[in-house]
Amino acid sequence: MTASRPAVEIFANPRADRSAPRPGVLTHEARAEAQAAIRAWPGYAPTPLLDLPGLARRLGVAAVRWKDEGGRFGLGSFKALGGAYAVQRLVREHGGDVTFAAATDGNHGRSVAWGAKQAGARAVIYLHAGVSPGREAALRALGAEIVRVAGNYDDSVRQCARAAAERGWQVVSDTAWEGYREVPTAVMAGYSLIAAEAVAQMGAERPTHVLVQGGVGGVAAAICAELREAWGADAPRFVVVEPALAACLLESARRGGRTEIPIAEETVMAGLSCGDPSPLAWEILDTGADDFAAVDDAWVPPAMRLLADGESGDPRVVAGESGVAGLALLLAARERSETWAALGLDAGSRVLLIGTEGATDPEIYREIVGRGADEVAGTVAR
Ligand SMILES: Cc1ncc(COP(=O)(O)O)c(C=O)c1O
Repeated sequence: MTASRPAVEIFANPRADRSAPRPGVLTHEARAEAQAAIRAWPGYAPTPLLDLPGLARRLGVAAVRWKDEGGRFGLGSFKALGGAYAVQRLVREHGGDVTFAAATDGNHGRSVAWGAKQAGARAVIYLHAGVSPGREAALRALGAEIVRVAGNYDDSVRQCARAAAERGWQVVSDTAWEGYREVPTAVMAGYSLIAAEAVAQMGAERPTHVLVQGGVGGVAAAICAELREAWGADAPRFVVVEPALAACLLESARRGGRTEIPIAEETVMAGLSCGDPSPLAWEILDTGADDFAAVDDAWVPPAMRLLADGESGDPRVVAGESGVAGLALLLAARERSETWAALGLDAGSRVLLIGTEGATDPEIYREIVGRGADEVAGTVAR
């Protein structure tokens, strides 16, 4: 942690408006169609919604619920729902004799490569310089061709789009740009299934807070749209959490409009290292999110270890670096009463955390937690 950067930052969204939810492109129909399609895939099962009472006691809140996306279709993250669904739609439209191209910091590309493999199609995946060898290996194992490019995630998105335009490839991006909206809409519609499952799993229970991590903002927007529709004005306080090193959504909220920021340094939360918010996601989060938060990387290892150990008899949870952003924020905020209060947290709070990934890079996981994911014996079936 550097002295110049606060460990945690909260920005209350002055534009938040619960009276007029804007689902943007994520209409009821788009979400329902994606959810029905994915529920029909072989091997589909809702991911577990865990109760972590020991962690709740430690934090001083009434409940912590953990939606564990680590086992999603065997791909390690919620991203299995987005890219692969977009590929399925494109195959329906164009047939399988096409090349799919995507830029990724790991998880999105894995989903696209998996979808392409099932369709017997070719996948070319663009990786920026900071993507770990473990994440590259997982992509190659799915048969993807890899192109390494200089720069960061946002650069890899641009290079992928340029190459695809020249070669007639189908780009499957999780972010949108001018004239390119349909595919990222499908990607986000796929993500909405996480929230639809959580709503069903919670029954009459209502969280007071939902913390969702933001990269380009796609998964946060999808969950926000789904929860607002399901729970209306009773929907919990919606907090978007980003790494301090890549807080483009927070900066957008602060400036009152979508803002691109430079990535000066790669965060350990690799999946969240994005400086350019998706315009489609921003349309939803602009008024849909109640708070934007940024947390320092230093809080990631303690969050991963806490989950791996299972506090006071809680089930042990394998959660990767980008998956723990919400818990990292809670740990950082717990140290400062004014930050805790700014988030409206107290002993009655019931917090829903979205654990967006498991050990998607096994080596990095082992380095941080001190033992391998397979040794973190949990009660969660994988
Ligand atoms: C594990 C994980 N969590 C969260 C995110 C953020 O998703 P989005 O870019 O849609 O905001 C990503 C993106 O790659 C991710 O890999």
